Amino acid sequence: MTNPPAGAMIRVEGLTKAYGERTVLADVSFDVAAGEIVSVVGPSGCGKTTLLRCVAGLIPPSSGTVSIAGQRVTEPPEGVGVVFQHFGLFPWKTVFGNVAYGLTVKGVPRREIESRVRELIVMVGLEGFEKSYPYQLSGGMQQRTGLARALAIEPSVLVMDEPFASLDAQTRDLLQLELLRIWEQRPTAMIFVTHSIDEAVLMGDRIVILSGQPGHVHDIVDVGIGRPRGREATDSERFRVVRDYLWTVVMQGANRRNMPGSAIETNIRASDPP
Ligand SMILES: Nc1ncnc2c1ncn2[C@@H]1O[C@H](COP(=O)(O)OP(=O)(O)O)[C@@H](O)[C@H]1O
Ligand SMILES: [Mg+2]
Repeated sequence: MTNPPAGAMIRVEGLTKAYGERTVLADVSFDVAAGEIVSVVGPSGCGKTTLLRCVAGLIPPSSGTVSIAGQRVTEPPEGVGVVFQHFGLFPWKTVFGNVAYGLTVKGVPRREIESRVRELIVMVGLEGFEKSYPYQLSGGMQQRTGLARALAIEPSVLVMDEPFASLDAQTRDLLQLELLRIWEQRPTAMIFVTHSIDEAVLMGDRIVILSGQPGHVHDIVDVGIGRPRGREATDSERFRVVRDYLWTVVMQGANRRNMPGSAIETNIRASDPP
């Protein structure tokens, strides 16, 4: 059900990761093309964060490789923006300071930092909050700050770990659409990890379904919905078909864990598209 991209920007090959004796990811392989969004979906504990940490060069794989633009990842590579689930902002820095961080580290001249950070702050809708500290912001505003910080370095690769999971439903819906809008202006290769099936379909060109413990690739699905995408994408027939397929797969996994064998088939049929 999938068309592999031509020139891979991110390549994950045979990635296996163990913590001590315990293998949490087994033989995971997939590619992300330049300007492609690949959603990664799977139940809690299947190794999604571990996968992203390997891609971002924060932890080494036990075996297998990650490469970005043809370079093997052995440490955090330049040009990779990371957005975490729990914001990961510096509490002692203002919104401005947080967004400016990557540019400051790179030694970008102060005036250039000022103008770029200002632009980004407007882009993510935080005008007027430049001098606020994270504790003075709502969750949604903190996540906007995290997004602006990741975008500031003009990344060629973005990895996002359930960036909207801890937000209320309304803010999440809003930020999904804003992220899509921002991405349209400058499409980068993106891995978007989520446990929300709807979010995976809305964001992704393709979806990597992880399942099991250790987590492995169960399937890779072509979403097949055009861009630009807005909220109306969720009304399309194709959206429904892909979502129902994912639900079926996830249900199957859940049933395998919780129920004896024969219950599986019955439950899948019940959720099949009419
Ligand atoms: N640093 C670590 N040391 C030991 N075990 C870990 C570590 N990080 C994660 N794990 C375990 O690895 C498994 C996968 O975790 P994680 O990648 O966070 O999954 P997910 O993001 O899909 O919820 C979990 O069982 C978790 O407890
Ligand atoms: Mg996680």
